[in-house]
Amino acid sequence: MTRLIVVSNRVSPPVGEGKANQGGLAVALSSALRETNGIWFGWSGNEIDAFTGQINFARNDGVTTATVDLEAQDVEEYYNGFANRTLWPLFHDRVDLAEFERTFAGGYERVNARFAETMLPLVTSEDLIWVHDYHLIPLGSELRQRGVTNHIGFFLHTPWPVLRLLLALPSHRQLVEALFDYDLIGFQSQTWLDSFLLYVREQFAEADVTEDGTIRLGERTVRVVACPIGIDTREFVASARSEEAEQARLDMLKSLDGRALIIGVDRLDYSKGLEQRFHGYERLLADHPEYQEKVSLLQIAPPSRENVESYQDIRRQLDALSGHINGEFATALWVPLRYVNRGYDRASLAGMFRASRAALVTPLRDGMNLVAKEYVAAQDPDDPGVLILSRFAGAAEQMKEALLVNPFSPEELADALAQALRMPLAERQSRWKALMANVEREDVHWWLRSFLDALDDDDGEPTASLVA
Ligand code: ADP
Ligand code: F6P
Repeated sequence: MTRLIVVSNRVSPPVGEGKANQGGLAVALSSALRETNGIWFGWSGNEIDAFTGQINFARNDGVTTATVDLEAQDVEEYYNGFANRTLWPLFHDRVDLAEFERTFAGGYERVNARFAETMLPLVTSEDLIWVHDYHLIPLGSELRQRGVTNHIGFFLHTPWPVLRLLLALPSHRQLVEALFDYDLIGFQSQTWLDSFLLYVREQFAEADVTEDGTIRLGERTVRVVACPIGIDTREFVASARSEEAEQARLDMLKSLDGRALIIGVDRLDYSKGLEQRFHGYERLLADHPEYQEKVSLLQIAPPSRENVESYQDIRRQLDALSGHINGEFATALWVPLRYVNRGYDRASLAGMFRASRAALVTPLRDGMNLVAKEYVAAQDPDDPGVLILSRFAGAAEQMKEALLVNPFSPEELADALAQALRMPLAERQSRWKALMANVEREDVHWWLRSFLDALDDDDGEPTASLVA
């Protein structure tokens, strides 16, 4: 069976370690890695004085991880710099926040070269290599320069930016050209894929782009697919029905004292639209005073990328705004907005999702958004909550039965909230059923199989057996 090598900036803890942040991606990748005796390679998360290239191997629950420490300058220029100060804002339509520093671009190239050099001895000619996300776009090219001829796939978890914004990146052509060294590129949605093709047609006039998603540029051929990631639905449903989740649900209901819960769960990131969301809730309370003291918004937002200034700024803004909303509407017996900066284990999250009447998943831009899918999976089929979802999340392409909203408009958010709060049971059930059918069908195992089947296509050996 073809051995799989997964490469990503962060290496998730192997299944079984019981970490609170264990997501569906780690579950699915771990099962494929275990089946093929594969390796998950990436950054350890540690900083050292000088890069050594020494690999730390660990084996846990049948999954081998191989991690390297990065030096402080690498972390600053590659991770905090090019990945999170340049590419992340640019890929999420925030060119105003993007910083274009030569040292960042240099650090990005250096770390990608270091990753390639370090992982090279691990690669055998039979391996299937799968690189993830914007941190590692040039890795395939770095591996090719070192003689690797294996099938190499790349999956982008973020949106692909619109053409005119990407042109603001001084090295845009070099970045995109590196992608032609992969055999297959996966995007979360058709919208991101179309945006990529538009860039290629405009900027690489010499490229031959066929209808079936094959691009030829000189000697190189790459296929492109839209392949939306899912969650481990079965696992999340089981988690939502666990005793721990039930306890969290009951605790939450008790604290609500008969009020309807609206919930939001996001990394504290400016792309998640939290400011606009808070304004939408404020608008609901102002325009529909009948909901005052009848609802409660719980926003869970653990801090993320705290060394980056734009993240410090958004945190300050949300601190002020949440204080303002509570100051304006709270009574001695009611706090309208519960704003919590910490993470929860998956069962507790699922229990809180199940206790809520509606969820606000309203990013301004998002590659996919897994919280939307987790929210649906956690619901009680007899009494499901309503998903309010941004039109600008990749998930909106698959989840049309949600209440789709423009996340920039507080009025639209307030209207959707009012609609959700008064939605009859039969409508909630029929919307949920349609959403759940998709979340079950296109789960993380389906995603993994679809991508790997396409990557391994040439030699006709199906990789479906990789997936449990
Ligand atoms: P992103 O990858 O941009 O953070 P996603 O919505 O695709 O956004 O994925 C976020 C993942 O992190 C989901 O699995 C979600 O459940 C998890 N998560 C987010 N916030 C928390 C939290 N406070 N506690 C636990 N898990 C969280
Ligand atoms: O989903 C996008 C993503 O950037 C992942 O690649 C990443 O692991 C996650 O968000 C959290 O971000 P970070 O790894 O920077 O904490």
